[in-house]
Amino acid sequence: MPLTRLVVKQFRNIKACDIELSPGFNFLIGPNGSGKTSLLESIYMLGHGRSFRSSLTGRVIQSESDELFVHGRFLNPDNFELPIGINKQRDGSTEVKIGGQSGQKIAKLANVLPLQLIHPEGFDLLTAGPKSRRSFIDWGVFHSEPAFYEAWGRYKRLAKQRNALLKSAKNYAEVSHWDQELAKLAESISQWRESYVSKVKKVAEVICHEFLPEFDIRLKYYRGWDKDTAYKDILSQNFERDQSLGYTFSGPNKADLRIKVNSTPVEDVLSRGQLKLMVCALRVAQGQHLTEMTGKQCIYLIDDFASELDSQRRQRLADCLKATGAQVFVSSITKNQIADMHDEQGKVFHVEHGTIEQV
Ligand SMILES: Nc1ncnc2c1ncn2[C@@H]1O[C@H](COP(=O)(O)OP(=O)(O)OP(=O)(O)O)[C@@H](O)[C@H]1O
Ligand SMILES: [Mg+2]
Repeated sequence: MPLTRLVVKQFRNIKACDIELSPGFNFLIGPNGSGKTSLLESIYMLGHGRSFRSSLTGRVIQSESDELFVHGRFLNPDNFELPIGINKQRDGSTEVKIGGQSGQKIAKLANVLPLQLIHPEGFDLLTAGPKSRRSFIDWGVFHSEPAFYEAWGRYKRLAKQRNALLKSAKNYAEVSHWDQELAKLAESISQWRESYVSKVKKVAEVICHEFLPEFDIRLKYYRGWDKDTAYKDILSQNFERDQSLGYTFSGPNKADLRIKVNSTPVEDVLSRGQLKLMVCALRVAQGQHLTEMTGKQCIYLIDDFASELDSQRRQRLADCLKATGAQVFVSSITKNQIADMHDEQGKVFHVEHGTIEQV
C-alpha cells in the first residue's frame, strides 16, 4: 500500500512540498538540518496522527504558522488510489480526512497506513524498559485483532479507576466488583498478545538469523503476571500490596517481549551496529508477518541510516526490504552512503532548507 503522492505544508522547516513517490525506495539526501527527518516525521504523522519526536504539536507546526497539513494518496490493496490527510492546529485540534470524508478517527489512519519507523533512537526497543516492546507487540495485535483497540482502551480506563479506588477502599470487597471486568479484559488482551508473539517470533527469529548469523536469538512473551495464576486471583491475592503501592502492580501493563542473545540479555552482547541490525530485523519481520496475515504492506521509514552499518549489512537489509516489495523511505547525508541500497525503480530527492526536489 504505497504512497503515490505526498503534500506537506508548514511542517517544521518544510513550508510546502509536493512530490510523486516511488512504490519502492525513496532516498532523501541532504545536509544536517535540511529537513530529512522532518519529511519522515510528516509521513509518520499521516499514519499515527502524531509525531515521533515531540508530543507538542506546537513544536512541529512551522514557526509563525497556525497549522500544518500532511496529505497523501496511497494505493489500497484493491489497487485504487485513496486520499488521506491530517491537519493540526496550534490549539491542539486535529482533523483527519480519509477518502474525502472528514471527521475520521486517528485509529483509522493507523489501520490504512501501517508504518515501521527505524531511527537512531529506536534502540529503545532492545535496551530500554518494556514499554517500547509492548508497543511493538501491540502494533501487531492492533493490525491483526479488530477488538483489541477498544478492549485495551477500556482496560486502561478501568485500571485507572481501580488505582483511584485502592486509595480509599477499606477492604477487598469494595474493589472486587471492578475486578471482574478488568480480569476478563486482561485475559483477552494477554491471549491476543501471546498468540501474536508466537506467530511473529517465528518470522523474526529467521530474519534475525539472516542478519546476525553468529548469534542465537530467542524471543519470549511475558504476560505481566505469573503464568499459572488467573488474573482475577492475582488481583485478590495482591490487594494489600497494591493498596500500599497505590496502584495495581501486576497485569498487562507489565507485559514484555523478552529477548535473549546466546541466553544473555541483548544489550550485554551486541555492538551498536548489531543492535541496529536487530531492530531492523524485528521491524521487517513485523511487516512481513502483516503482509502474510492481511495482505497489507507496511511502509518503512528509515532515518539516518548509514551511520553505524557497514556496506555489506546495508546491502543485506536493502535486499531483504526489496524482497518484501514494500515502499521504503531512507534518509542520508550523502548519496555515497546509500549507494549499495540503490534500485532501478527508486527515486532520489534532494533536501535543502526545507525544500524537497526529485533529482
Ligand atoms: N517548528 C519549526 N519551525 C521551523 N523550523 C523548524 C521547526 N522545528 C525544527 N525546525 C528546523 O527544521 C530543520 C530540519 O530539521 P531536521 O531534523 O528535519 O533535519 P535533518 O535533515 O534530519 O538533519 P540531520 O541530518 O542533522 O538529522 C532544522 O534546522 C530545525 O531547526
Ligand atoms: Mg535527521
